[in-house]
Amino acid sequence: MDSLKIAVLPGDGVGEDIVPDVLPVLDRLAEIHGSVKFDWRRYDWNCRYYLEHGEMMPADGLDQLSDHDAIFLGAVGDPARVPDHISLWGLLIKIRREFEQVLNIRPAKSLKGIRSPLQDGNSFDFVVVRENSEGEYSQIGGRLGTGADEIAVQNAVFTRKAIERAVRYAYQLAASRAKKVTAATKSNGIIHTMPFWDEISQQVAQEDESITFDLQHIDALAANFITKPHTYDVVVASNLFGDILTDMGAAMMGSIGVAPAANLNVNGKWPSMFEPVHGSAPDIVGKGIANPMGQLWTAKMMLEHLGYEDMGEHLLGAIEAVLADGVKTPDIGGTATTGEVIAAVNAEIGS
Ligand code: NAD
Ligand code: IPM
Ligand code: MN
Repeated sequence: MDSLKIAVLPGDGVGEDIVPDVLPVLDRLAEIHGSVKFDWRRYDWNCRYYLEHGEMMPADGLDQLSDHDAIFLGAVGDPARVPDHISLWGLLIKIRREFEQVLNIRPAKSLKGIRSPLQDGNSFDFVVVRENSEGEYSQIGGRLGTGADEIAVQNAVFTRKAIERAVRYAYQLAASRAKKVTAATKSNGIIHTMPFWDEISQQVAQEDESITFDLQHIDALAANFITKPHTYDVVVASNLFGDILTDMGAAMMGSIGVAPAANLNVNGKWPSMFEPVHGSAPDIVGKGIANPMGQLWTAKMMLEHLGYEDMGEHLLGAIEAVLADGVKTPDIGGTATTGEVIAAVNAEIGS
């Protein structure tokens, strides 16, 4: 039987409330399917670790993580005690960058049993392919001057290689879905990077005419998400645009607590990392009401990535059945606790 060595990083906040309790569900799923077992290795690297050690992970932390089949992460950030630029760049973004997790795949679709803020009947099913390595999230820039003359500059960096890679991936994904790719742009207002983005995405688009392609300005696209979400299949976006669109996608489903994500390493050199779209939710931590569905759906993406599609489908089926049954945390209109939702998914999986 295969054994999967998975690095488990609950991280901060609700990550610690959810992640440890999700693992037995996955063990049970593995037991039922009988083809694999999990070798969970837990790493408590988070803001508490930072306050004790002065760094978010040990100096050889990346080396330790590199020797795993995947990384399963909760969330990072405890902004009341550690500034976000320290915690995020010291752990989450460091892993994404160093392990060349260059794409962030974030699906969103209407779910039965959750009231979406969208008009009734506006059902949707799309995936955002977020460029995850560069763009607006560059380390180039700085602050200059003082007082009223102080300025801050951030240089967005776009490479041909990364744009091509993101658009090609979107095309591959669309080929197995509804055959439509929308690229998010802002070439009417951003004069250096976005026309370059348009040019390269149009070049990639010309390679496969079986897929419908269009470019939409990010502002209009954001509005269209609300008014005609059913018109999207695969949306490819830069790092920051993708970040914002995927919180929108989460909200359209009913809560950020249900949205999953996969940070993919596509050159096979390093493990990929699976973490939900939401953050550490400091406002609800420790209350037992954090929605575990985003983390569970993220586990489904991890299983799929590792080649266990049948287990992934089984898990997503259980998630959808539990939501349809009305076992829900308060963010999506229910009264169940985190533990009750996880127990319901566990029961739904069967034996
Ligand atoms: P957040 O996603 O943590 O919270 C936004 C809102 O959504 C809050 O009201 C929160 O209670 C709610 N929410 C989030 N997850 C939920 C869940 N599972 N169930 C129910 N409700 C949920 O975003 P924020 O408040 O902007 O950030 C808090 C911290 O998390 C910051 O330090 C931020 O940088 C960090 N963050 C980390 C990640 C990550 O690790 N991937 C992602 C986003 C934010
Ligand atoms: C996300 C988060 C991160 C991002 C933050 C915490 C740096 O918002 O994973 O969506 O912007 O990528
Ligand atoms: Mn985000």
